[in-house]
Amino acid sequence: MNIVSALEQPMAADRHTYSITGGVPLEGSVTASGAKNAVTKQLVAGLLTDQPCVLHGVPRILEVDLVLGMLAELGTQVTWLGEHSVQVHTPEVRETSLSAMYSGVNRIPILMMGPLLHRRGETIVPLPGGCTIGKRPIDFHLEGLRQMGADIAEHPTSVKVHVDDRLTGAHIDLPFPSVGATENLLLAAVRASGTTVISNAAVEPEIVDLILMLQKMGALITINTDRTIMVEGVRELRGVEHTTIADRIEIASFAAAAIATDGCIEVRGARQEHLVTYLNTLRHIGGDFAETKDGLAFWRARSLTATDVETGVHPGFMTDWQQPLTVLLTQASGTSVVHETIYEDRFGYTEQLRAMGASVDLTTRCLGAVACRFHGRDFQHTAKISGTRRLLGADLVIPDLRAGFGYVLAALVADGTSTISGTRYLERGYEQPVAKLAAVGARITTRPV
Ligand code: EPU
Repeated sequence: MNIVSALEQPMAADRHTYSITGGVPLEGSVTASGAKNAVTKQLVAGLLTDQPCVLHGVPRILEVDLVLGMLAELGTQVTWLGEHSVQVHTPEVRETSLSAMYSGVNRIPILMMGPLLHRRGETIVPLPGGCTIGKRPIDFHLEGLRQMGADIAEHPTSVKVHVDDRLTGAHIDLPFPSVGATENLLLAAVRASGTTVISNAAVEPEIVDLILMLQKMGALITINTDRTIMVEGVRELRGVEHTTIADRIEIASFAAAAIATDGCIEVRGARQEHLVTYLNTLRHIGGDFAETKDGLAFWRARSLTATDVETGVHPGFMTDWQQPLTVLLTQASGTSVVHETIYEDRFGYTEQLRAMGASVDLTTRCLGAVACRFHGRDFQHTAKISGTRRLLGADLVIPDLRAGFGYVLAALVADGTSTISGTRYLERGYEQPVAKLAAVGARITTRPV
């Protein structure tokens, strides 16, 4: 999809539904795409300089088209240099504000505040809004920017930000290691006057990859072992050429598919260092992996058994790995516990799994090793999964991106044929999922809507 057509119908409709017939062990190789949650922020980082920035490993997904559309609206010249390489060049920021049609679309506009304040001193950006996985406020982002001297006025669907001269360095102690707030403050701090210290920062590999790109652009950033990031502000940044890391969520999704279907999938581009916690969990369940020349291969080593998992900030178990894992655990004998500590409402998708025959009970209790932020509150954030259960094919409607692959996986292990709609959510973050699944032998077809 090109930028224009993505913008004409940002999230309007599915292009097609999927039909998946389960019970086939998936075998073969796929290549991991670049990480959505790294590249979208790196495209924004390109706004920090008036020189060209080239990114390689850019996945061709709707989310990327949306961000490129936003940048084009601000004055960025976007040039595709190859299938997965794009140049963004903003010699001049023509517009300081993004149009309201981006309100509620995604979380990227709020990351543009810092770069736009540096380039033009003011901006109005649309707010992301909540979604099916939780409220997702942006209070940490705004408080941090205020501490750096930004004058912020909040409106129902947008936020207006202004700075008199330059943003100034500050010591910001995040109440929780938020990925987005850490990225936002990094993008604001790199060209601020003085030093910014972000303590209790998130240090996900995607954030480290953003830092590597910013460092190549001339930024001075130090990551300490105690989750403190120190940024010494510089006046100007220069252009850059950077290759985005592979998508560890997509890799984990295909690993789960290999193990759930009792097949073997090599994911080219997968890197062990980004998956350490996930690989331990796979081993606990009965999966295994090996390094190959080009990536990692995943398979089932023994019959699957239950395990307990708590999602957490890096280097913990990612919340975005939770959905394929939960489906995988329906195929493991015994009772597993998955305690979700990042989002308060990320198990809604399990209702349709129950309809397929899965035994997934939700509770508001913290059944993990530690009480999380949701302790004593009315959030069903722990799942008890009992297996092994045979799943039956069903008509499934995807509610959000990561639940989407969970449903694909459920359909792959189920008896019979499932139809899946809401595929626009899945395709927003996974590049060519149908072609990749078909390449490893999945019986998947699409039907235009
Ligand atoms: N939070 C606040 N206030 C804030 C910011 C965050 O209370 O100002 C809370 C959130 O409500 C949530 C927790 O902190 O409960 C963590 O949120 P975080 O800011 O870390 O998440 P995010 O930056 O909004 C990114 C990814 C998510 C991924 C999370 C956690 C992007 C675009 N999104 O979200 O990815 O789950 O980090 O790793 O990078 C996805 O790709 O499907 C996805 C949801």
